[in-house]
Formats: sequence, C-alpha cells, structure tokens
Amino acid sequence: MTHRQIAVFTALVSATSWTGAHAAPAPVPLNPPAESTIPAGPEGDAIKLGKLLITDTRNRLPNNVGNGLNCSNCHLGAGTVAYSGPYVGLWGMFPEYRTRGANINSLQDRINDCFQRSMNGKALAYDSKEMNAMLMYMRWLSTGVPTGTPVAGRGMGKVDTTLKPDPIHGKQIYTQKCASCHGAQGEGLKNETGYVFPPVWGNASFNIGAGMARTYTAAAFIKHNMPLGQGNTLSEQDAVDVAEFVTHQPRPPYAPATNDYAKGNKPKDARN
Ligand code: HEC
Ligand code: HEC
Repeated sequence: MTHRQIAVFTALVSATSWTGAHAAPAPVPLNPPAESTIPAGPEGDAIKLGKLLITDTRNRLPNNVGNGLNCSNCHLGAGTVAYSGPYVGLWGMFPEYRTRGANINSLQDRINDCFQRSMNGKALAYDSKEMNAMLMYMRWLSTGVPTGTPVAGRGMGKVDTTLKPDPIHGKQIYTQKCASCHGAQGEGLKNETGYVFPPVWGNASFNIGAGMARTYTAAAFIKHNMPLGQGNTLSEQDAVDVAEFVTHQPRPPYAPATNDYAKGNKPKDARN
C-alpha cells in the first residue's frame, strides 16, 4: 500500500468504527414501545398472543410448564423492566455464543432453556405458533434498538461476587422481608387461577439448573427488584445472604446440568 492508500484505509476503518471482533457497542436506553403501536392484523395478533403466553404461561402451556411459574414472574413487566431480564433489544442480540453450553444459541434455544430450567418443563417446538408468537413479541419490543446493541439493564445486573454468603443471616432476612408474600416454606400464595405470589423453592419452583438457582444471579435480581415495589432497599450483602438461603432450599433436580460449562468458564456459583 502507498501512504495515501494507508491513509484512506485508516480513515475508512475509523469512519465505520471497525475496532475488531471484541468491540461491544455501548448500551442504548431501555425504551419499550407503547402498547398502542402494536399493529392490527395477523402480526399484531401474534404479538398479543406472545405477551399473553409470557404472563400466563402456566395456564396456557401446561404441557411445557412443570412448575407454578409464569415467565413474567422473573421477567417483570412482561420483559420490559431493567435488571429483570428485559426482552427489549434481544431480537438483535441473538444468535449469540453462550459459555454454559459452549455454543451459539438462537433466541428459540434461549427461550427453551428457560422452559426446561426456570419453568422445570419441556421445550416448545421451534416452528410452533406459540414459539413464533413469543418471538414476534420480543421482536416488537426490540423496535428501534440497533442490531447487536444491548439495552441498559440487560440481564439481572451484577453484584460483587467476592461477597461471602451467610445463609443463617439470609434466613432471617427471608423471614422479615420475603415470607409475608412468598410464604414461610417458600411455597408462594395461590388462588383459583394461579399464584398471586410465586413459589421461591420446593417442587413448584425453578430447578437446580436455572440461572435463578445461582447465588449471585439471584442476588442481583433480588437486589434490584425485591421486596416487590421496594427494589434497591437491601444492601448487596443482604441480597447475597438471602439469595444463598433461597437458592439452596430444596428444589427440582435437572440432570442435564452436569454437561454445563463442559468447555470451561464455570462460574463459582454454578450448581452442577
Ligand atoms: C425463575 C426465573 C425465570 C423464569 C420463570 C423465566 N426466566 Fe428467562 N431468564 C432467567 C434468568 C436468571 C436469565 C438470565 C439472565 C442473565 O443472563 O443475566 C433468563 C434469561 C432469559 C432470556 C435471555 C435474556 C438475555 O438478555 O439474553 C430469555 C429470552 C428468557 N429468559 C426467556 C424466558 C421465557 C420465554 C420464559 C418463560 C417460558 C422465562 N424466560 C422464564 C430467569 C427466568
Ligand atoms: C409484596 C410481596 C413480595 C415481597 C415482600 C417479596 N416478593 Fe418476591 N415476588 C413477588 C411477586 C408478586 C413476584 C412476581 C412478580 C411478577 O409476576 O410481576 C416476585 C418474584 C420473586 C422471585 C422470582 C420468581 C420466583 O418465584 O422465583 C424471586 C426469586 C423473589 N421474588 C424473591 C424474593 C425475596 C428474596 C424477597 C425478600 C427480600 C421477596 N421476593 C419479597 C412478591 C414479593
């Protein structure tokens, strides 16, 4: 290359902000679209069905749900709230490499992971009406978010993983600040249509292979969102303590978890 060609090449590279494979774009604000923007017609019908399946999962998909939960019990506001696994922007994030399975996951794979683990149930068929409805809902929620760009508040957030959990203190916090809704035995509170307050341990809860069964993931969710309506009132240490207590109470097994992180990068709070 001549000097001039090098200069042009360098200018082009910086103009397209091409900085190599590891550059992650800065997050954009989490701005879910207004409900009124759901279009009329078949696509709008699918978006609305997808939302309904997220909030009433247990009643509407009894063959795929093996516990008492709905997706929106953890993905608050049907996937519109920061630090509770928002779905906004996910349309342009998947397919994505994930270390747990050490492979590229489609958005369908990721949804089915939560069916099998968080919902202790069975995968949905990839081309089913229900899977497509959930995808349509997530696509609509992602309107305006550039491809490959996460939203601020993606995932459950983070807590300091060097904090040492104290489950005895965690149990005290649970009794004081959680049991009024989730029950003394973590069993939740049910009415005739389902749970008003979801179970946090026992057979009707998420299984051992779920992300929420990991101390620091649960701690981050709890810190930001619990007690419901009083997010960010617990200290990080209290959140870690109560998360350790709750996650290590009895819950359903998940045999395939023994294959998780087979290629390394196992987080210290993994349960397999
Ligand atoms: C018990 C809590 C819980 C329930 C119930 C649950 N999930 Fe999740 N979900 C999680 C956790 C934890 C993560 C991982 C978040 C992270 O990466 O920090 C997650 C991640 C996801 C992701 C990927 C998010 C991202 O940013 O990459 C999708 C999509 C998803 N869940 C869909 C669902 C669907 C659909 C359902 C219902 C069928 C469901 N989840 C039920 C806890 C739950
Ligand atoms: C005022 C009632 C209330 C209190 C108090 C409360 N929660 Fe929750 N919690 C809820 C509700 C309701 C949901 C589901 C939210 C939804 O569906 O929108 C939830 C969801 C959860 C979930 C995810 C779903 C599941 O069942 O696993 C966890 C974990 C959780 N809470 C833990 C806690 C912990 C720990 C505390 C105490 C620090 C606590 N909560 C205090 C009402 C409460």
